[in-house]
Amino acid sequence: MTEWRYPELGQDLVRVVVSEEDIQRRLAEIAAQIDEDYAGSELLLVGVLKGAAFVMSDLMRHLHGDVAMDWMAVSSYGAGTQSSGVVRILKDLDTDLTGRHVLIVEDIIDSGLTLSWLLSNLRSRGPASLEVATLLRKPDAAKVQVDVRYLGFDVANEFVVGYGLDYAERYRQLPFVAVLAPHVYGG
Ligand code: XMP
Ligand code: MG
Repeated sequence: MTEWRYPELGQDLVRVVVSEEDIQRRLAEIAAQIDEDYAGSELLLVGVLKGAAFVMSDLMRHLHGDVAMDWMAVSSYGAGTQSSGVVRILKDLDTDLTGRHVLIVEDIIDSGLTLSWLLSNLRSRGPASLEVATLLRKPDAAKVQVDVRYLGFDVANEFVVGYGLDYAERYRQLPFVAVLAPHVYGG
């Protein structure tokens, strides 16, 4: 399938779940909606490192309003594929959120534990508004309910990589999202 483009990675992938074209089309649609919803207000996009770097970059390019960007790094996974629910801040925001319209930009919501922790953490900083945009969501993996304002795609409960998503820091550069072969993580 993708072997010809990624000779060293293709054999680790089972199938493409969301194509490059579908990702880009959906991000453009979401950006148009964000432009409409936040017209006339300043928006702060808060990306969650490292996975959301690609979503942030492509989404932000489509926005025409007054928009700034900041980043947080949190850890809930280590090198494995299961959410621990224990979240640590590895890098905090540079920006004071008081009175700001904040939109969290995420790569994927799996159990929802990371994001629900992040939402209550950021809410306590007094933003004017706080919403979530995510490229992917795994509805069958949800352990807590998280309100998502902007959603790219719902995907099945399988470990996926690409477009920022990694396994042990690999596969992020793929322009599409694909299921990782279980043999890679010993499944
Ligand atoms: P939770 O379970 O807290 O997880 O919603 C959110 C974070 O876990 C990572 N994650 C994944 N990373 N493939 C990945 O490469 C996946 O299928 C996957 N599921 C969850 C991701 O960093 C996300 O922000
Ligand atoms: Mg991650």
